Amino acid sequence: MTRDRRTRKTDDRRGRKPKQKDHRRDARRPAATRPKTPKRAGLPIVVATKNPAKAHELAKLLEETPFTVVGAELIADLQAPVEDGATFRANAVKKALHYSRLVDSLVLADDSGLEIDALDGQPGVRSARLGGPSATDADRVRLILSKMESVPWERRTARFRCEIAIAQRGEVLASFDGSVEGRIAFEPEGSAGFGYDPIFFYEPMRMTFAAMTAEEKHHVSHRGKALERAVDWLKHWCARKSEPGSGSSG
Ligand code: IMP
Repeated sequence: MTRDRRTRKTDDRRGRKPKQKDHRRDARRPAATRPKTPKRAGLPIVVATKNPAKAHELAKLLEETPFTVVGAELIADLQAPVEDGATFRANAVKKALHYSRLVDSLVLADDSGLEIDALDGQPGVRSARLGGPSATDADRVRLILSKMESVPWERRTARFRCEIAIAQRGEVLASFDGSVEGRIAFEPEGSAGFGYDPIFFYEPMRMTFAAMTAEEKHHVSHRGKALERAVDWLKHWCARKSEPGSGSSG
């Protein structure tokens, strides 16, 4: 397949633009000022990330659960832990434990990143830090594309991985993983999502993650899969808590 055929997808999908715009507008707002979902008050759960786009994705995915996400505003002023773990799991656990010692609610933390086979699994756990502290998502995308310049399509295989950890009062209660296979596109495509989405080409849908609607991405993404497992666990956890005689307020 030629590069042209792969990038033509964006034009094909122009009809979907308004939906993507709504998503991006919300993602740019500070979480505390986003419209609250008009729904029942549930058990509070802290989503331990200061990345507004990620917090938004996680909150959206948790909408259909008995939980109310109380994310950014609670942890905004708290010191973030250093993410120096060697694995996504180590970092997710570290974040979940760290915030669970500072707040009362259940804490859900995720750590995620992109592994590129032709770069020996890089950027991996360094995905958010690639290019240094002042690099933007666009800088990181450019950096990856330059490193991959001479790599042919067959060897551009990559995957997003996500690990989610749930903790409460300094104890890890559960962890879940999810991954999705794709290829690094030759050039950015699409403007939704965040991070490496514009160059992560998902072959079954023949488009990058950044060309998908939020719902399409959640359906197949590493985070969507890990969170689906976490949500199942949370529902059971909630049910157990509300059983008579469980003796806990959660
Ligand atoms: P962390 O999990 O907050 O340490 O950051 C993970 C980094 O991996 C993000 O800042 C992105 O650069 C990248 N990443 C993780 N998940 C995604 C995704 O769904 N789309 C695009 N980039 C992602």
